[in-house]
Amino acid sequence: MKEIVEEKFKEIFGTEGRFKTYFAPGRVNLIGEHTDYNGGHVFPCALTLGTYATVRQREDRNVNLYSTNFEDKGIITVSLDNLKATESDGWTKYIKGVLWAISEKVGPLEHGFDVIYGGNLPIGVGLSSSASLSVLTAYIINDSFKLKLDATELALISKKAENEFVGINCGIMDQFVITKGKENTALYLNTATLEYEYVPINLENYRILIMNSKKKRSLENSKYNIRRTECETALEIFKQNGLKIHTLGDLTKEQFEENKHLLEDEIIRKRAKHAVYENERTKEAVDALKNNDLIKFGELMLESHKSLKEDYEVSCLELDTLVDAAMQQEGVIGARMTGAGFGGCAISIVKKSKIDKFMQNVRKIYKENCDYYTDIFIVEVGSGPHIV
Ligand code: GLA
Repeated sequence: MKEIVEEKFKEIFGTEGRFKTYFAPGRVNLIGEHTDYNGGHVFPCALTLGTYATVRQREDRNVNLYSTNFEDKGIITVSLDNLKATESDGWTKYIKGVLWAISEKVGPLEHGFDVIYGGNLPIGVGLSSSASLSVLTAYIINDSFKLKLDATELALISKKAENEFVGINCGIMDQFVITKGKENTALYLNTATLEYEYVPINLENYRILIMNSKKKRSLENSKYNIRRTECETALEIFKQNGLKIHTLGDLTKEQFEENKHLLEDEIIRKRAKHAVYENERTKEAVDALKNNDLIKFGELMLESHKSLKEDYEVSCLELDTLVDAAMQQEGVIGARMTGAGFGGCAISIVKKSKIDKFMQNVRKIYKENCDYYTDIFIVEVGSGPHIV
């Protein structure tokens, strides 16, 4: 992949001068969905698939951007002296956002650069292509300008860019695991304190598969932001009624059940229920994995999907079809949608010896019911950003 991006760089920006190539992974979340902006726990891992960028420093104040995913847009030039969001930013809003967020933290950058982005991560399907792009950019700037920001600061800068520049009120999960991911482990993160632990993914005869629904997501950003507001409403009501909590993640299931009558609006109650129960499920799932109890882990995945479908209402026909099709197969111990939802991907844990049959059958069922072809691939757990 590195060679492909570097060749493209030479073709678009010429062969003169020194350039450097960097990588940042995508991520897949194993469990703990829509808990990160509720002060709960998440359990994602970084992928070996991700975004690559080749970069050469410039002497002026222009940043020239090119993406192999948007070749029709050509080179887009951003001036370091004009980092305001505009309607026409398109894919470059993530980069501009990071340029803006970094200069808010360390002051204006001294000069610009030429950069080409490419890679092998499917984009816009719930594997965090946007956070991969943002973190990669923050990492490149940190390295190029010797800013000495640590991984957590890079994650927070990337999140700030998405929240305040791009306008998605996402939590910290994606940026955090992308900056800190470690091979063969998943990252168990408490999003309220940012304490984390690497947990080995020891699946023995099983593998995690990703099934891409190929369903184009629409309006997912505004639906995402609405879910977040609904959770904030629930939290506010609990607090007004005297509960001493900072986030929904502070509540146990029992405390939620005792107090849920305070949430008179059924929709708000369902959203809060998901946030609380999913957080508890994530803790149980991590314990199950540590005890090599994969069956329990699989059961919790299914419960998570049910809750995302019925209480949080972020699943869709395509994701439900993939999960149902997966669960009908031999050698499967769990399946759920992953990421924000409204399209994107589902995951499943499948016995190694049954993977071929699984892929064949799930593809067939999915095509018959949803009229899309699904791409199914085995998760390989990678590590955080680095120079390649
Ligand atoms: C998106 C967001 C994350 C998280 C997930 C849902 O990936 O970027 O912060 O909220 O959705 O778990």
